[in-house]
Amino acid sequence: MPGTCVIGLQWGDEAKGKLVDILTGEHDFVVRYQGGANAGHTVVSGGETWKLSLIPSGILRDGVQCVVTGGVVLDPASAIREIDMLESRGVTVTGKLLLSDRTHVVFPWHVAEDRLLDGSLSGGGAIGTTGRGIGPCYRDKVGRSLAIRLGDLYRDDFRQRIDHVVDFKNRLLTSWQPSGGTAPEPLDAKAIHTQYRDYAERLRPFVADTTAVLLDAVENGRRVLFEGAQGALLDIDHGTFPFVTSSNSSGVGVASGSGVPGRWIDRVIGVVKAYSTRVGGGPLPTEQDNAIGLHLRERGREYGTVTMRPRRCGWFDAVAARYTARLSGVDELAVMLLDVLGGLDELKICSAYEIDGRRVTQFPSQIGDLERAVPVYETLPGWSDDLTGARRSADLPSAAHGYLAAISDFLGRPVSIVSVGPDREQTIFCDRAQGTSWQRPQPTGSAPA
Ligand code: GDP
Ligand code: IMO
Ligand code: MG
Repeated sequence: MPGTCVIGLQWGDEAKGKLVDILTGEHDFVVRYQGGANAGHTVVSGGETWKLSLIPSGILRDGVQCVVTGGVVLDPASAIREIDMLESRGVTVTGKLLLSDRTHVVFPWHVAEDRLLDGSLSGGGAIGTTGRGIGPCYRDKVGRSLAIRLGDLYRDDFRQRIDHVVDFKNRLLTSWQPSGGTAPEPLDAKAIHTQYRDYAERLRPFVADTTAVLLDAVENGRRVLFEGAQGALLDIDHGTFPFVTSSNSSGVGVASGSGVPGRWIDRVIGVVKAYSTRVGGGPLPTEQDNAIGLHLRERGREYGTVTMRPRRCGWFDAVAARYTARLSGVDELAVMLLDVLGGLDELKICSAYEIDGRRVTQFPSQIGDLERAVPVYETLPGWSDDLTGARRSADLPSAAHGYLAAISDFLGRPVSIVSVGPDREQTIFCDRAQGTSWQRPQPTGSAPA
């Protein structure tokens, strides 16, 4: 069967971009099916660094068709900026990229609403969104009456549509008086229409019915790689609501976002960092607001790709990742950034939570329970070796084998790919057929934090 998915199992930034770039060579299509310019995917190759938000990470390779489907929300200015950046650095985009005419378009009012509304959650803290208008654009999609899709930009009534929506949005936005702040300036329908008409002309060569293209592809045995954005714990339905993004970022989103039924997918790779990170608000039970967290942030260069915010860091949470591996139907695991753990005497993996005195291994559905969860850790030996030169499993020290074995055991899936640095080359592939067996040493302790 022709479909492979790469799904982040944590709170995003698991190094999905690196993995997708590597796997692109084995595929004919690379597909983004949800999220938008909130994603920041990094690919490092030959000393060059590429940061992609909307365009699939497969674009850097030749001979592959990159597709942005209708499940994505598309900010045309971001897309054009990215196309220009790629072409100015010698990457061909024309003829290699398709944008769905079903994609919902991000407009300035979405960005304004995002910035006005975040932080107004009743009784809770701010979500800490990326401020890219993602939630408001998805809200209008679901609401329908104020939504504009990419295909609508080419219709004769586009100007009337803009007038209608701007009239409504101006009433809403200008009546909003944040405490201590000023209401936003009214939107100018004519200026927005002119700007988006220009964007539409620029993007015209890329626009297509991508659902039809992808259905033809899978029915003809072409190999399709689905590139998840964000991580499954940020999934709108199954994540740590309300501290989530506004799309299905777990494996459940592939079919709805792309239009390709799940029956065409035969390989689901769950991507995890060797530890946990989170940007923005919401609980992170294993967070280390101490020297360990600092070690992870500095060695892992844990600063947001999109917003440059420092990422919150903590120990690997096996309760959370086991839940999302099951939720996404993961067959195998890619463990990324393993090198970052080097230099720590001991490592901890959260194997259960204690919530109100009860020990649980099932990920809580309610945010209040997760907020009260105290991690129960299994302690494993660390290593001092620099792993960045490792290219085969035999190059890894026994403590690293033990750590990978523990992750594999807790999640109930084999670890088939290990990453030890940002570059394409810094990757260890384990023979799936032979099933590299990671040796697990005896745990040195287990206690509530
Ligand atoms: P994505 O959003 O899941 O694609 O991940 P990001 O690109 O936002 O964040 C991952 C970061 O880790 C990027 O800066 C990558 O260059 C970097 N990276 C990827 N793999 C490794 C690795 O194995 N080790 C280290 N040290 N960095 C890595
Ligand atoms: P990639 O694809 C990490 C987080 C934001 C915020 C929440 C909602 O690079 O893994 P949004 O702007 O989507 O409404 O913000 O989701 N978030 C991400 N965190 N990586 C991402 O993408 C993210 N995309 C959104 O920080 O907490
Ligand atoms: Mg990222």
